[in-house]
Amino acid sequence: MTLPRIVGISGNLRRPSRTRTLIEAVAMKVARTQKIAFSIYDVLDAGSGLGIALRRDELTAEAEYLVQAIERADALIVGTPVYKGSYTGLFKHLFDFVDPKALENTPVVLTATGGGLRHALVVEHQLRPLFGFFSALVVPTTVYASDLDFTDGKLVNEEVAVRVEGAAQQLAGIIQTSFARNLSPTLLATAG
Ligand SMILES: Cc1cc2nc3c(=O)[nH]c(=O)nc-3n(C[C@H](O)[C@H](O)[C@H](O)COP(=O)(O)O)c2cc1C
Repeated sequence: MTLPRIVGISGNLRRPSRTRTLIEAVAMKVARTQKIAFSIYDVLDAGSGLGIALRRDELTAEAEYLVQAIERADALIVGTPVYKGSYTGLFKHLFDFVDPKALENTPVVLTATGGGLRHALVVEHQLRPLFGFFSALVVPTTVYASDLDFTDGKLVNEEVAVRVEGAAQQLAGIIQTSFARNLSPTLLATAG
């Protein structure tokens, strides 16, 4: 049986990363209700070849691998640290190489982390429009966590955990419906 391929993409430029932990938390919750094949990458996995490429044919093999992982995913869980009120530059640069049609109807969970609560709506004001551009199927619940919500690298805030659960349930629901009908989620919307 082919498992749904869920790909986590994190815009963190440092490791260890709270953003990556948050994405993994969502994926773990999805995995409790649905068998999935989960892979996670951050922009560091793309190597230094990502930042210097201006065209897709200039990407190094490792950066191209990430772009293809995004394009071939059945669903995405994306996240970024807030840098200057927005996603990190390399997070956006990575998605700038993605084929504009590749994510049509792809289910997506949006997450972000920041130093405090001031930029909590970055998920709505920055990430949601980006995935609106791609006509992706963004689930209603987004997840934002601040640095204070982590202790020793672990997510400890109960309210954030509730949102993680909500977003994961919404994603799992879409995946279950589409895979139960033996369709990839991206085909479900067109199949009706
Ligand atoms: C260059 C830089 C800019 C930042 N700008 C913001 C910001 O505008 N708002 C905010 O809430 N946090 C800001 N932060 C804090 C990070 O978003 C926060 O520490 C985040 O949890 C880091 O995620 P990571 O552990 O995945 O790298 C900034 C951090 C750096 C290094």
